[in-house]
Amino acid sequence: MKYTLFTLLITVLLTLFSCTKGVDSPKGFSLPKGSVAAGEKVFLKFQCLACHRVKNVEDASIEKNESISIFLGGNKTEIVTYAELVTSVINPSHKFSNPALTQAKTADGQSKMKVFNDEMTVTELIDLVTFLQPNYTLVPYRHTKYQYYPQ
Ligand code: HEC
Repeated sequence: MKYTLFTLLITVLLTLFSCTKGVDSPKGFSLPKGSVAAGEKVFLKFQCLACHRVKNVEDASIEKNESISIFLGGNKTEIVTYAELVTSVINPSHKFSNPALTQAKTADGQSKMKVFNDEMTVTELIDLVTFLQPNYTLVPYRHTKYQYYPQ
């Protein structure tokens, strides 16, 4: 019992300090309002379509990457936040949405996504994530369905 309580305490402390207090935490992150239309232009300008697909956006003039074609958007069981999208763009190797996708990584485990940090302005980044975010839909976690027996 004593041991269980101790483990619980350590877990709670680790959770508190690692998630909310660390300098790496997304706490306090907030973006100014961006423009969806301007974001679509940024998406085309930086040729994201070379490796990605997005609903209702096409540009035949962009040369497609032969091995990478990742759909951005769709149903997720967790909210895809602005913070997560900013992270995906400025720090692509931070987290892989599909770790099994081997063609997305280099031999040393880094993302093959191009880094645009020295080319993209902050305003462009804000508009870009404003454009991308509505493409993600939150689907509630589905519980096992039990048969309903009326009384
Ligand atoms: C050279 C190919 C390449 C280019 C160009 C590229 N990406 Fe990516 N992108 C990737 C790869 C590979 C991943 C990793 C997929 C994963 O997370 O499993 C990725 C992941 C992402 C993700 C996370 C995916 C998700 O649904 O969680 C976002 C968002 C994203 N890219 C946005 C962009 C944007 C915006 C641009 C243009 C500014 C861009 N990418 C340009 C290859 C590319």
